[in-house]
Amino acid sequence: MYSIKFSGFMVLRQPIVTILGHVDHGKTTILDSIRSTTIAAREAGAITQHIGASEVPLSVIQERCKPLSKIMNVKLTIPGLLFIDTPGHAAFTNLRKRGGNIADIAILVVDITQGFQPQTIEALEILKEYKTPFVVAANKIDLITGWKTRSSCFLESAKFQMNNVMDDLDSKIYTLVGELSKYGFQADRFDRITDFTKTIAIIPISAKTQEGLPELLMVISGLAQKFLESQLKLSEGPGKCNIMEVKFEKGLGVTADIILYDGVIRKGDTIIFATKSGIKTTKIRGLLKPKPLVEMRDTKGATDRFIYVDEVHAASGVKIFAPELEDALPGSSLYVVWNDNDIDKIKAELENELKEILIKTENIGIIIKADTLGSLEAIIKMLEIEKVKIRKADVGPVSKTDILEADSIRKQDRYSGIILAFNVAVDPALEEEAKQKGFPIIKSNIIYSLLDQLKEWREQEKIKEQQEAMQEYVFPAKVKFLPGYSFRSNKPAIFGIEVLIGRIKQGDTLMKEDGTEIGTIKSIQVEKQSRTELKAGEQAAISMDEPTIGRHIFEGEVYYTKVPLKDALTLQNKYKQFLTGQELDLLDHIMRLVRK
Ligand code: GTP
Ligand code: MG
Repeated sequence: MYSIKFSGFMVLRQPIVTILGHVDHGKTTILDSIRSTTIAAREAGAITQHIGASEVPLSVIQERCKPLSKIMNVKLTIPGLLFIDTPGHAAFTNLRKRGGNIADIAILVVDITQGFQPQTIEALEILKEYKTPFVVAANKIDLITGWKTRSSCFLESAKFQMNNVMDDLDSKIYTLVGELSKYGFQADRFDRITDFTKTIAIIPISAKTQEGLPELLMVISGLAQKFLESQLKLSEGPGKCNIMEVKFEKGLGVTADIILYDGVIRKGDTIIFATKSGIKTTKIRGLLKPKPLVEMRDTKGATDRFIYVDEVHAASGVKIFAPELEDALPGSSLYVVWNDNDIDKIKAELENELKEILIKTENIGIIIKADTLGSLEAIIKMLEIEKVKIRKADVGPVSKTDILEADSIRKQDRYSGIILAFNVAVDPALEEEAKQKGFPIIKSNIIYSLLDQLKEWREQEKIKEQQEAMQEYVFPAKVKFLPGYSFRSNKPAIFGIEVLIGRIKQGDTLMKEDGTEIGTIKSIQVEKQSRTELKAGEQAAISMDEPTIGRHIFEGEVYYTKVPLKDALTLQNKYKQFLTGQELDLLDHIMRLVRK
């Protein structure tokens, strides 16, 4: 008999559980199958589907976990769970509050047949960043070859599987364990864990056959009430919320979908929230909750889908309407004020929150546009780790001003004149304009891919800059007139050379060790093909109008490019990174020859 004991008594609010993971790994299906249980167990208490959130009451969890009573013994003290489905990690980063995320706990969903994918890793990095406790739901076990569904309880079903099927499952779980350890997490199958504070629980499930869902609900509930007790203590103070989305509703006007993560919010309450142009205060005209199990994306009028309520307690999703909400920044905080004396303090706090994110730090740096404050914050954090300088970070679509600003930055630093656009619209005309001006707008809805693309672009810029510098300046080079390779003695002289150090190009002037000029390189040919440049290690036939072989130049001699003083200074000061140590030494040597 497995026994996972989570106990302790106290009045707790429902924990906020967010579901994250790679696209199509089954996040929504998991929620759907938890929800559908309640339609079945309707008498036990309906699930309320909030704004982007589903509330699963204790009675439903208990009903759901019944098959487990034989093997697990947990006394649940939480009133239920509030699930938030995320259409991607972006929504998760949006559930932000100062110093972290409003999620008390998260479920990282991984399709066991696919393992870790880019967005799984991204979700994991974000969970790590926010220090959010989580479990891993290894979904789609029904797809394991030979799997037989025998019970909704995973541990029961497991008893009926052939040995090779369980071996296959275990090896897939160990692949996940290995992946998690790369990111510094110790993990194991949930029923093999003795200390849940140190080990991440992996729960094999199938959202399709419902196997493992009882265990998933039990482990989540147990972990939340055991380890997050102090965080879940019920508060009756003024509400603290996070703005998920601001949108227009027929019949209501502009509304905000918010998650109340602490305290209470009432009709008529004063609220304070952030907009791009500063902090605003207004009064709540109406509080709305969706009717149980309505389809939120329904196009019916708002009043058909919502019920008016006077008061809401944490944790809960709720729609509010109030004047001036249209400028509210998704991903920012919204606070209820009960005592006017608190207004200044809260205002200051919101201002700080904004300042931390909508920064204009450096004169020279890149421009970032993102859909919400939450994603912006996550991007900034990542860029800071990579020491990428930021000039402007802002919420909203890419604008004409952004293009002009990036262009002017580009003129000062070609590696910074660029725009990163995360999950925001980019007008094709503006994109074209940027291209004309010589820089791209990097678009992605995966944060790490933005960084990867930025790095890649900078690499390409470096190569371009090097090529441009090469065209404009004479680089140091040392070449040898190869013995036995005189092809024509004069007008022009044609002879074979090898570049010993550095690089030469058409138009470079060559000189001897004593500083005397021999002429200008007219053409370079390698196996009858014309070349504009030649680098160390390469051999070619070159032609020059000025010298005559046997009179001015001789086989076996060594020549140098004659680097003009101003070119030498530019190379040393500006393009040092393009020259090897050997080339820099050669440049010094050449400068001494020139001065002679
Ligand atoms: P996004 O919201 O697009 O990120 O995807 P999601 O993670 O919410 O995935 P979703 O729940 O939409 O499931 C994707 C596909 O996987 C659907 O076709 C589901 O029917 C299927 N699916 C989900 N869970 C399971 C499972 O346990 N077994 C099997 N066989 N298929 C599943
Ligand atoms: Mg989904």
